[in-house]
Amino acid sequence: MLKVNEVNHPLLAHYLTILREKTTAKAQFKSSLEKISYILAVEVFSHLKSEAKIVETPLMKAKGSKIKNKVVLLPILRAGLGMTEGFMELYPEIIVSHIGLYRDEENLKPVKYYFKFPQIKDKENVNVIIVDPMVATGGSVIFTVEYLLSMGIKNISIVSLISAPEGINSIDKRFSAQEKENMAFYTCKIDEKLNNKGYILPGLGDAGDRMFGT
Ligand code: PRP
Ligand code: URA
Repeated sequence: MLKVNEVNHPLLAHYLTILREKTTAKAQFKSSLEKISYILAVEVFSHLKSEAKIVETPLMKAKGSKIKNKVVLLPILRAGLGMTEGFMELYPEIIVSHIGLYRDEENLKPVKYYFKFPQIKDKENVNVIIVDPMVATGGSVIFTVEYLLSMGIKNISIVSLISAPEGINSIDKRFSAQEKENMAFYTCKIDEKLNNKGYILPGLGDAGDRMFGT
């Protein structure tokens, strides 16, 4: 089974409510999503592996630690950009990669228009964190994870704001138990269902349009 973490925090619930409200203006929408990204980053980063490191304080040697793996943040454009700030501020060493996808309005399948990823030799020791506020049919996440797996990357976290049960089930069904071993799914809320146009109910509408004012 896919490891699904529904992250609970009173501030998450507070800002998610602001995001859902249809009268929330673009500026407040963007700043609320950014605040949420900090809370999610703390949660997701808490699962990173560390390795021992000795440092010299001004007085003596001290045992410490450092993050072991290379960490790559992968926002799904466009709306995923709204969730990058917390991750980049809390761990500025993070490498930021991008994948551009949009859903075909007719068949709801993702269409890729951009992908930029660093050259990485040691793929075993890389953690990729995919961020996208909305997981609806799950198609965009599945496409992105398939892409990463085909590159030999196994440690994958998927981080979203709102997810539909249909999307989570599709992701769970698409990948094998072995592939899911090193995969984790974080979301702030699992909503009720999708409507017949593939929108999450109650959801918040079109995240990209609300964030960018399009
Ligand atoms: C939205 C959202 C996800 C996708 C989710 O992107 O940001 O990427 O839909 O739907 P799925 O789970 O059914 O694939 P959209 O296609 O609206 O593109 P945008 O971010 O550029 O607006
Ligand atoms: N994409 C969105 O932005 N919102 C939805 O409800 C579904 C997909």
